[in-house]
Amino acid sequence: MAKPPLSMKPTGWFQVAWSDEVGVGDVHVMKYFGEDMVAWRSEAGQVTVMNAYCEHLGAHLGFGGKVVGEVLQCPFHGWQWSQEGRNVCIPYESRPNRGRRIKTYPVIERNASIYIWHDLEGREPFFDAPDVFASFEDGSSVDDYYPQQRLFEQGHEMHPQYVLENGVDFAHFKYVHETPINPIFTRHDFADAVSYVDFTITFEGDDGQRIEDVNSGVEAINGGLGIAVTKSWGMVDNRTISAITPVDEYTSDVRFMVYIGRVPGKDSPRAEQKAIAFGEEIIRQFRQDIYIWSHQRYSDPPALSTSEYEGFTAIRTWAMQFYPDGRGGSAADLAHQKG
Ligand code: FES
Ligand SMILES: [Fe+2]
Repeated sequence: MAKPPLSMKPTGWFQVAWSDEVGVGDVHVMKYFGEDMVAWRSEAGQVTVMNAYCEHLGAHLGFGGKVVGEVLQCPFHGWQWSQEGRNVCIPYESRPNRGRRIKTYPVIERNASIYIWHDLEGREPFFDAPDVFASFEDGSSVDDYYPQQRLFEQGHEMHPQYVLENGVDFAHFKYVHETPINPIFTRHDFADAVSYVDFTITFEGDDGQRIEDVNSGVEAINGGLGIAVTKSWGMVDNRTISAITPVDEYTSDVRFMVYIGRVPGKDSPRAEQKAIAFGEEIIRQFRQDIYIWSHQRYSDPPALSTSEYEGFTAIRTWAMQFYPDGRGGSAADLAHQKG
């Protein structure tokens, strides 16, 4: 295991919980990016994510804090905090403290997940989090799929970028997943903060296959470093979301979600059982990746083969825009020393 040398404070959208973990009136305790945080849902249903400590005398709002209508009330002296983190009531004074504010994070709920925008510089979101259905602009919706299946693992010494690099890593399939597939990349688009990688799949031994004969493939959309969505077509229709969120300078939480497509007219309980089993198989394969990622040491500069050079260089160059120093943190210094 090795502490990731890339900065663990990248900018972007990151998953901090699932929506169903934060019901109306719930105050959910979390730690991300080295900060203690709470997520709470108001009576009207709005989720707020804010730093955990009351600006008054520092009570942790996740231990006894109470949702009162649209505000969060501190358990210690009853001060109330708004969804913007402003103090709106001191119960024993005639006016609130207008100066102090608890840091809040831009939040969106999408695909049953709660995402926050993290940016050390406090900039407004400059790209949108991808949606596992809408972002593919194919008219699909959650109703076309069986319920979301999930993986959640904590405490891995890995960095979100490792997972994205998997998307251009054609050589690992055979060794990590024991699937003898040869992905052929048809799109590498790293022009913007949201990037696109598409590939088609041929099976080993089918060297004579022409691109027109290929009948399956994967499209991936990376919304910054934190969230990637995929659509697989051809074999079993499935969608996935991977969401990796740094917890501190060493570890990340790993979330992975799978949706298996319903087949119109064949929506029997037996078909659902098969879909669930297939979803579990995709999750098992993702675990095989985690086993590698959680023990790897980020290699920079890496010893790339000729055919790997373009994809890895493109994704690593693209990733730099999300780091506070624009270079990747101490990884850049290490590369320089070796250089
Ligand atoms: S510490 Fe929160 S109200 Fe006093
Ligand atoms: Fe993989």
